[in-house]
Amino acid sequence: MTEATQGQTEGKTFQPRVFSGIQPSGGLTLGNYLGAIRRFVDMQNAEDLTGVEKIYCMVDQHAITVWQNPEDLRRNTRELAAGYIAAGLDPSKSILFNQSQVAEHAQLAWIFNCVARMGWMQRMTQWKDKAGKNQQNASLGLFAYPSLMAADILVYHATHVPVGEDQKQHIELTRDIAIKFNNDFGVDFFPITEPVIEGAATRVMSLRDGSKKMSKSDPSDMARINMTDDADAIAQKIRKARTDPDALPSEVEGLEGRAEARNLVNIYAALNDQTVAEVLRDVGGKQFSDFKPMLSDLAVAKLSPISTEMARLMETPDEIDAILRKGADRARAMAAPILQQAYDIVGMIR
Ligand code: AMP
Ligand code: TRP
Repeated sequence: MTEATQGQTEGKTFQPRVFSGIQPSGGLTLGNYLGAIRRFVDMQNAEDLTGVEKIYCMVDQHAITVWQNPEDLRRNTRELAAGYIAAGLDPSKSILFNQSQVAEHAQLAWIFNCVARMGWMQRMTQWKDKAGKNQQNASLGLFAYPSLMAADILVYHATHVPVGEDQKQHIELTRDIAIKFNNDFGVDFFPITEPVIEGAATRVMSLRDGSKKMSKSDPSDMARINMTDDADAIAQKIRKARTDPDALPSEVEGLEGRAEARNLVNIYAALNDQTVAEVLRDVGGKQFSDFKPMLSDLAVAKLSPISTEMARLMETPDEIDAILRKGADRARAMAAPILQQAYDIVGMIR
């Protein structure tokens, strides 16, 4: 992040600020961890971001765009908070809270519903994937999902959003909404947010099919590693992961056309804080029968302390709730004046 280019519009430079969110719509996967949470922790601890506010939330209002059982939603929200903390997010360094605790998100989203166009929403691949063939039967919230996401980000004037590759299109839409709002009202009010998509695992693929994203909603549990899986489950899933019959290459180019091999090497690199080239330098020439146990050992070593800590935190849900309430108070204090100014710009009397 270079200071001079932060969220710049034509006329104004915004103070850098980091925001991201994850839906509490099921258990956390290795994809969430490597693509998102690890990056949240890295940004929290980055020395060049000292003094920059980092805001991370559980987006429960996005989760309910598809049906959530209320008891499950409550549990998943606390478990996601526990996952954030267990993975290294520190409530004294980052602001952690639950989206619905700060009403300003939904309030700004309404204004954005009136700025964004139907056609923009219709083009979103996540909408097309999730609504499927029967779009008429999808919730209105699912259609408007990106508008609420833009509000999550822009209600803090956030300039940087760490996410996995799949969220790039939504961040582009967030920029479009900011630009249109600024143009429509002739202001320089919302920053043009940058996605931060970095690391060796911005798109972790299914263990069963290298062309599909690893997802909490995959019907097969063998396709994903859950953050709550124990060592045996992790080892079994990696042992059974789909691969090809060839040995591992020693150069990155050798992974071309080998989606499953590439995925396992990416996961190894991300877990071990190495580049893919570095990993291949060490393991090039090995068969998967040798590489898979190395990967399982590494995954267990990195993930089991997190899942143990998550389980410990889940024993005291009141403490989790207290952390979130405090975070929400801090978040609201930032969001409220920005929403107020947006209302003024739009012409609403308060
Ligand atoms: P979601 O679970 O859809 O709310 O996603 C939360 C965050 O995790 C987003 O930043 C996603 O881009 C990221 N994410 C989800 N699945 C993956 C994956 N398979 N690989 C990398 N990042 C992912
Ligand atoms: N749409 C994101 C996902 O499914 C979750 C999300 C909601 C989000 N609001 C956000 C991510 C704001 C980053 C910033 O992964």
